[in-house]
Amino acid sequence: MIDLCFSILASDFAHLADEVAAATRGGGSIVHVDIMDGHFVPNITFGPPVVKALRPITKLPLDCHLMIENPDAFIPAFAEAGADMISVQQEACRHLHRTLQLIAAHDVLPGVVINPATPVDMLIEVLPMVHHVLVMSVNPGFGGQEFLPLALEKIAYLAALRTEMGLNFRIEVDGGVDNDTVASVVKAGAEMLVAGSAVFEKGRTEKNARELLKRARRAEPASASAKKAPVKGKARRR
Ligand code: DX5
Ligand code: ZN
Repeated sequence: MIDLCFSILASDFAHLADEVAAATRGGGSIVHVDIMDGHFVPNITFGPPVVKALRPITKLPLDCHLMIENPDAFIPAFAEAGADMISVQQEACRHLHRTLQLIAAHDVLPGVVINPATPVDMLIEVLPMVHHVLVMSVNPGFGGQEFLPLALEKIAYLAALRTEMGLNFRIEVDGGVDNDTVASVVKAGAEMLVAGSAVFEKGRTEKNARELLKRARRAEPASASAKKAPVKGKARRR
């Protein structure tokens, strides 16, 4: 059930392949790639060439989190570069339904992201078409920020909605997930755990990842670990 989505934003870019390998040895199962454009968020990171460079160095799924204006213009390039999942910020999409269709049309798993100030209810109509919903537990733009506990209620509400609506999207959380906060997000119902600083800090990537995962698994409800199916290919696009 639990995936550790390590965010390379906090990694040593001069040794990116080694960092990805170390996080993978520590149990990381998804590579989280934070795409920032300096407009939607006050920071700039990577574009499709970095995704393309990552593609041959790992077998893990590449989870591209687009924190950009006008994502429709860039979705084809990220798909072409090798993204397995693309998530877009609800706040950046005037025609969210169309944008999610566009991602799926490129044979990429579509996800939607909400900022701390955006209510879950903004997503109800599109929940049937997403592979994952990402709840931001910091305001996007930077790694290393403090976890905002308001995310917990949103995660729990999403989990309840999923049952009520008979859906099977996954719930992802991003921002401030570390050894102290990881149990609370897992207990609330998050299964895809994004972590940057907590994984890459102090050059102890493998050990950090292992410790974080251990704490996450310990917090998992017994029923979740019992029915855990370690399928690597992930749910297919609906
Ligand atoms: C923030 C990004 C996050 C970030 C998380 O805008 O979306 O993925 O890398 O970093 P930490 O884990 O350090 O909060
Ligand atoms: Zn992110």
